[in-house]
Amino acid sequence: MPNSVVVGAQWGDEGKAKVIDYLTDKSDVIIRYQGGANAGHTVIADGRKFVFHLVPSGIIFPGKICVIGNGVVLDPEEFLKELDELNGKGIDHTGRLFISDTAHLVLPLHRLLDAAQESSAKSGGKIGTTGRGIGPAYSDKINRCGLRVGDLRNWDYFASRVTEAFAAKKRMVEEICGCSFDLTLDDLLKRMKIARDRLLPIIADTNDLVHSELAKGSNLLFEGAQGTFLDVDHGTYPFVTSSSTIAGGACTGSGVGPSAIDHVIGIVKVYTTRVGNGPFPTELNDATGERLRSVGGEFGATTGRPRRCGWFDGVLLKKAVRLNGFTRLALTKLDVFSGFEEIKVCTSYEIDGKLVDVMPSYTTDIEKAKPVYETLKGWTEDITACRRFEDLPANAIAFVKRVQQLCCDVPILIVSVGPDRVQTMEVTPL
Ligand code: IMP
Repeated sequence: MPNSVVVGAQWGDEGKAKVIDYLTDKSDVIIRYQGGANAGHTVIADGRKFVFHLVPSGIIFPGKICVIGNGVVLDPEEFLKELDELNGKGIDHTGRLFISDTAHLVLPLHRLLDAAQESSAKSGGKIGTTGRGIGPAYSDKINRCGLRVGDLRNWDYFASRVTEAFAAKKRMVEEICGCSFDLTLDDLLKRMKIARDRLLPIIADTNDLVHSELAKGSNLLFEGAQGTFLDVDHGTYPFVTSSSTIAGGACTGSGVGPSAIDHVIGIVKVYTTRVGNGPFPTELNDATGERLRSVGGEFGATTGRPRRCGWFDGVLLKKAVRLNGFTRLALTKLDVFSGFEEIKVCTSYEIDGKLVDVMPSYTTDIEKAKPVYETLKGWTEDITACRRFEDLPANAIAFVKRVQQLCCDVPILIVSVGPDRVQTMEVTPL
């Protein structure tokens, strides 16, 4: 199996975890390379449900090496909580889970600031973040004043830097945002000391580890979080997350060159969802949107928030193919459309009276977009037991083919018809 990157093609929640789970079997090393505990990846395997936020989902496969790369922002307490839950389910990570020493830390200070910034923002300026401290942690990284995982090795240095950060963040929360700051320095240091003692054994130079594995010929799987249009550069800024969610993020977030990557797999949900604020041209604020939400179980794995739902958007996807260079698509949630009489796909936007077929870069233009739809026939059959593409109803095959056309005819790796591992059909293998 070649080295592959898995990326969400829309606004996240495309069902990446299931596809990663499917590919993990054939991989040796699974690397998470961006984002933090804002992500929520659900895997259903052998009737058991696992929800991941920071740990690569490959950990449930015995013997696989899992890496949290330098591009991730790591909340130590969230991470340890997740590890404890996994251990409680019998998953042993000993000797095969590593955190990059150059990944940045998310401290409780960042969470407090995230919440304060959101609550003090004027209504049009609220991003609708997950409240996990992601923006403030990446701000510190870019501002060159962040704390890194490797800093935990020297407690005195770490404690003095936390003390400085505490004073700075307290001022921002109280004086700039006008919010209360419910944390004492003593408590923060105590909590971090406990976390440090547990983290030290798994902190590593993961760049060296990844390159040693590459040299041995191991197969690498890069696990993206969030989705293409939440990318800090190419997404619907400012309604984005603070990391590089596109395929290029796998290189910067782990320290490998683009030539190390053979395949880029775009995970495409056959309709569109988004959580948080920001433009969403094909959003449905009606009974059809409600139906997609309830049949598709569209509620956030991290925050439980109901997701905004809408039709498949080919204009968005054309841009996603450009930004990521997809070599395969994985289509998810096809089963959600069973019982729909008709299904719409957006083929272009009308913006200021002109037809546009690739999503524009600027958010205010996207806000003006009126979707132009094509209507396809639905199907009535339950397809959740289908295991071969050719066994799908003719209308489902026609729908998939039209979706693929709107995605620049990138070959389809798999089509998923349910949350379980086995509810997957392979179309064009890697
Ligand atoms: P943040 O990443 O918590 O700062 O949130 C910024 C935006 O990204 C908000 O609209 C969030 O709802 C969205 N977001 C962050 N993580 C995810 C995810 O894993 N899936 C979907 N949306 C996300």
